[in-house]
Amino acid sequence: MLDTLDISIQKVQNSRINEVDFNNIPFGRVYSDHMFIADYEDGQWSDLRIVPYEKLSMAPASSVIHYGQSVFEGLKAYKNKNGEAVVFRPEANAKRLNKSAERMCIPEVPEELFIQAMTELLNLDNAWIPNKENTALYIRPFVFAMDDYIGIKPSEKYRFMIITCPVGAYYSEPVKVKIETEFTRAAKGGTGYAKAAGNYAASLYPAKLAQKQGYHQLVWTDATEHKYIEESGTMNIMFVINDTLITPEASSTILRGITRDSVLTLARDWGMKVEERRISIKEVIEAAKNGTLQDAFGAGTAATIAHIELIGHDGVDYKLPPIAERAFSNKVLKAMDAIKLGEAEDKFDWIFKL
Ligand code: COI
Repeated sequence: MLDTLDISIQKVQNSRINEVDFNNIPFGRVYSDHMFIADYEDGQWSDLRIVPYEKLSMAPASSVIHYGQSVFEGLKAYKNKNGEAVVFRPEANAKRLNKSAERMCIPEVPEELFIQAMTELLNLDNAWIPNKENTALYIRPFVFAMDDYIGIKPSEKYRFMIITCPVGAYYSEPVKVKIETEFTRAAKGGTGYAKAAGNYAASLYPAKLAQKQGYHQLVWTDATEHKYIEESGTMNIMFVINDTLITPEASSTILRGITRDSVLTLARDWGMKVEERRISIKEVIEAAKNGTLQDAFGAGTAATIAHIELIGHDGVDYKLPPIAERAFSNKVLKAMDAIKLGEAEDKFDWIFKL
């Protein structure tokens, strides 16, 4: 049993919830009433508080703004079929936050602090957890450097925060992706495996170029040869070729996705052949051409399972099988939803009840 942490709570005077159209929620634009804050100074987290969601006041020289020392997480809360609030695998996010933090010289957030802060916040904003199909409350924990200092060194002060927002689908349609062979997302020894803010900033320019060509997202390839598939913009990437589920092995350049792990766990449990290994562009394109590429999709918290409609490579677009025929991705999406909603057994202990 964990010690209960002392979290002060200042509630909003007037909730904004009635201003939200829960039938039409854009992703990442509407924030619930409260947010959690803890400050790190002199080697410890203190002043744990939940306050109304509001703007922050920070020094213009705050290290995070200049040197990008910042990591974050993404997870989701749902209302299950009995109306209870549940969170999908929060302990895994707490652990990954600390893996990212270590790489960016950011102090660890104790797992019990992460979990208790999230629990208190969700209990307070329980009404913001939507219960409609394909909706969730997206939870965004993040830690950033707060030193008021111009100079390169790890900050001494940090802030850990959690904000939440009700969300609908991240991608409103199956995605068109382009295999990127010029720009690089992550190189061996870099920060690719960390959920570090700067990784996303660096991906924007190549993604913008691809969007101008009509694609939604990039598929990143290895930094050395640009021959092997790594991950897609906001997601891990998976293929089903000849009934085998294949995904790039988790490495220092790939984010160890929690949805990725959940999909692989379910597939193995169903007796499917699963391979975590290097997969070349050539192999994927050959499979797309000869009809053995049965399925391709992204897996991520925000995106959940995002069907890939077509893959662009070297100026050619390869159209993939119709979405309705994607046996595996449709099945795994349904299975994960059923677990979250309490309609299927939580065999792997993924569901955290508030
Ligand atoms: C997530 O999947 O939760 C992410 O953090 C991706 C982000 C770009 C929305």
